[in-house]
Amino acid sequence: MFEERLRRVQSKVQEALDDALAFHAELPVIHAMRYALQGGKRLRALLVIESARLHGIHEPDVMPAAAAVEALHAYSLIHDDLPAMDDDALRRGQPTVHVKWDDATAILAGDALQTFAFELCCDPILGARRIELVAALAKASGAEGMVLGQALDIAAETAPQPLTLEEITRLQAAKTGALITFAATSGAILAGADTRPLTAYAKALGLAFQIADDILDVAGDPKKAGKKLGKDAAAGKATFVSLLGLEAAKKRAAALIQEAEAALLPYGDRANTLRDAARFVISREM
Ligand code: IPE
Ligand code: IPE
Ligand code: MG
Ligand code: MG
Ligand code: MG
Repeated sequence: MFEERLRRVQSKVQEALDDALAFHAELPVIHAMRYALQGGKRLRALLVIESARLHGIHEPDVMPAAAAVEALHAYSLIHDDLPAMDDDALRRGQPTVHVKWDDATAILAGDALQTFAFELCCDPILGARRIELVAALAKASGAEGMVLGQALDIAAETAPQPLTLEEITRLQAAKTGALITFAATSGAILAGADTRPLTAYAKALGLAFQIADDILDVAGDPKKAGKKLGKDAAAGKATFVSLLGLEAAKKRAAALIQEAEAALLPYGDRANTLRDAARFVISREM
């Protein structure tokens, strides 16, 4: 069952992250890094592991890449929650890093988690193509990827008019989609295989993931979500839900999941966990 598989990934990835951070000095910034690495669905780690498995790479041989994508994601969340960005006090059901420590510690813990992610991607166990993985992670997370999406998102808050559906799609493809695409293609990158089918899968999945996030923001249960909801409307932000309406947004997400599943045809039954992951993305409550 998919949830069981995800739980196993969660504990394995946590172990890898804890081990990798075990030898660092005991400073507030290190405590904050460990704190920010707790919890989360670990969907991106699962995508890394499944993408590797499809290409004959065993789980232990790709674990540093799975840990890396979660470290990079954790950094993006710490900074996303800062007062200068979304100013959020709750993340994964716990106080955010800047609330528990202070802004400086949160900025530094994010900085260190980002470089930590690249250090993990340099682990020799990932093989000779890990340099390509490092390049892909840099592209996915930087000014053509996550940071671009975050910048567009922040700019949208003060834009004279709400964004169009096309503009939001572009924003989200960068903000959330790029790192998800990195995760889903990482196994193909490490194996030197064709990344196109998994790219098509991830693009549809990433968009469906963000539509689900927008739906949760409007209709989710804050206790289950572990973060403050209703933020998008409060910020006057155009989202898939505000532009399409709740029902049409749900339909759009479901259609994207079908698209994602169709992209997996070349892999046959071996991609069943990725199919389950796609369905999970739109049925999740957190
Ligand atoms: C939350 O990501 C931020 C977005 C990109 C919408 P997740 O929903 O994957 O957060 P965790 O890692 O499970 O907490
Ligand atoms: C955060 O997007 C995405 C990244 C950190 C890249 P949101 O601001 O929509 O995420 P939540 O809703 O705070 O989790
Ligand atoms: Mg944000
Ligand atoms: Mg936010
Ligand atoms: Mg959101």
